[in-house]
Amino acid sequence: MKITTKINLIITAWLLVILIVINGLVFYLFMKTTVNMEENTVNQKAHEILQKHIFPESLIVNKQLLYPYMSYHSYIRIIDPNSNIVTEVSNDKLLNKIKPKFTKKEETKLIPFSEHQNLVVRVPIKLNQKVIGTIEIGELLSGLESRKDMLLTIMTIVTVISGIFSLMAGRWLTRIIMNPISSMISTMEDIEQSGVPKKILIQNETKDELHQMASTFNRMISKLQENIDKQKQFISDASHELKTPITVISSFANLLRRRGLKNEEIAQEAIETIYSEANRMQDLTKTLLSLAESEQLKDTKMDTFDLVELCKSTLLQLQNVYKREIILQNKKSSVLVMGNELKIKQVIIIFLDNAIKYSSEKIIIKIESDQEIATLKIKDFGIGIREEELENIFERFYRVDKARSRETSGGTGLGLPIARNIVKLHNGEIKVHSEENIGTEVEITFPLEQNFKE
Ligand SMILES: Nc1ncnc2c1ncn2[C@@H]1O[C@H](COP(=O)(O)OP(=O)(O)O)[C@@H](O)[C@H]1O
Ligand SMILES: [Mg+2]
Repeated sequence: MKITTKINLIITAWLLVILIVINGLVFYLFMKTTVNMEENTVNQKAHEILQKHIFPESLIVNKQLLYPYMSYHSYIRIIDPNSNIVTEVSNDKLLNKIKPKFTKKEETKLIPFSEHQNLVVRVPIKLNQKVIGTIEIGELLSGLESRKDMLLTIMTIVTVISGIFSLMAGRWLTRIIMNPISSMISTMEDIEQSGVPKKILIQNETKDELHQMASTFNRMISKLQENIDKQKQFISDASHELKTPITVISSFANLLRRRGLKNEEIAQEAIETIYSEANRMQDLTKTLLSLAESEQLKDTKMDTFDLVELCKSTLLQLQNVYKREIILQNKKSSVLVMGNELKIKQVIIIFLDNAIKYSSEKIIIKIESDQEIATLKIKDFGIGIREEELENIFERFYRVDKARSRETSGGTGLGLPIARNIVKLHNGEIKVHSEENIGTEVEITFPLEQNFKE
């Protein structure tokens, strides 16, 4: 069953149940009060007769005395202790079939009779504290019957109309709710079949939950599209990067094949180039693997380690290789942070490597910490980065001024994206301040060990 039909039926059924209960209650109360009222009137009548007239022992009274108390279909009887009628006035023959009855106590009875309710009230007649007879008044409640019928008819009509209205309103309401959902479902089916992300057409800007759901879906699709585009860009960039060394290798191999072996100079050059390009390729593939790894660092093992210690050892290693002046400035002798030491080392190397590549003077490393965070600053006095390039340098394969970068370094443009992924995993942040031809300062912040949240 469709959800719309289900909602509709449930609401209508519920409404009908409520209506029937309320109607039943109204009907019951109406009947109760009306009958009560009638009873009181007739009872009052009997007492009035008793008050106004003193009955003789014989119970025989003038009928004229009773007529003023008659209503449209009724009788008044005076009954002796043997339940025999002594005096009777009546204007409805059918009513006469009700049996007379002597009683010492007041009683009121509803007697159904020829499709009508008949009210019979019996009040004892007392003379000198002795019950000598009963006055019995019978009345046909014809007005009650017709009012009851009318009430029942009105209630039935109201219930049926409410049911129909509820069904109609339900259909209208569910259509309003279901329309955007149906459109979403069909868009999703489209996506499923074609495999191409697609947005939902949002018709009304009502800002309700459905609108919210559709715009969330659209935002998700945008993100997905963005990721797919990035992925495509990445593949094309990666293959381009790999193609360049392969082309060089292939053409030099060809040169070797055709002439190289006869000419030792050419052979030497070709072999050198092939060797260095092959190395470049090897580096590139390693970096690519490292990037892929940095993008899925979910379950990396985290431990407490000393940032100062790590910087010192990394710095020594690089100093030995590059023979550059690198100065470490730290106020505290140890700063404990939580993380994966190897990955953080990789980050430090990436930034130090850049500082070494893009500057020729000294490099300063500063470690600071306060109550909550540890900050690592790497400062160089090199070529710097133009302001408009700053937002791009974390893109994969992005290099400011490609030709120059390659000349200086043979870099890949993958260092910063890897560093960013790793720092993000550690809930840290990277800020780059740079001015062209003055220098660059990179600021990496990590939450301290005790503030680290997984
Ligand atoms: N310290 C720096 N000084 C000047 N330019 C820098 C520095 N660090 C990064 N860059 C610029 O950002 C680009 C991206 O850096 P990175 O991702 O490490 O790639 P690369 O492999 O080229 O070093 C570099 O090509 C360079 O143009
Ligand atoms: Mg780099």
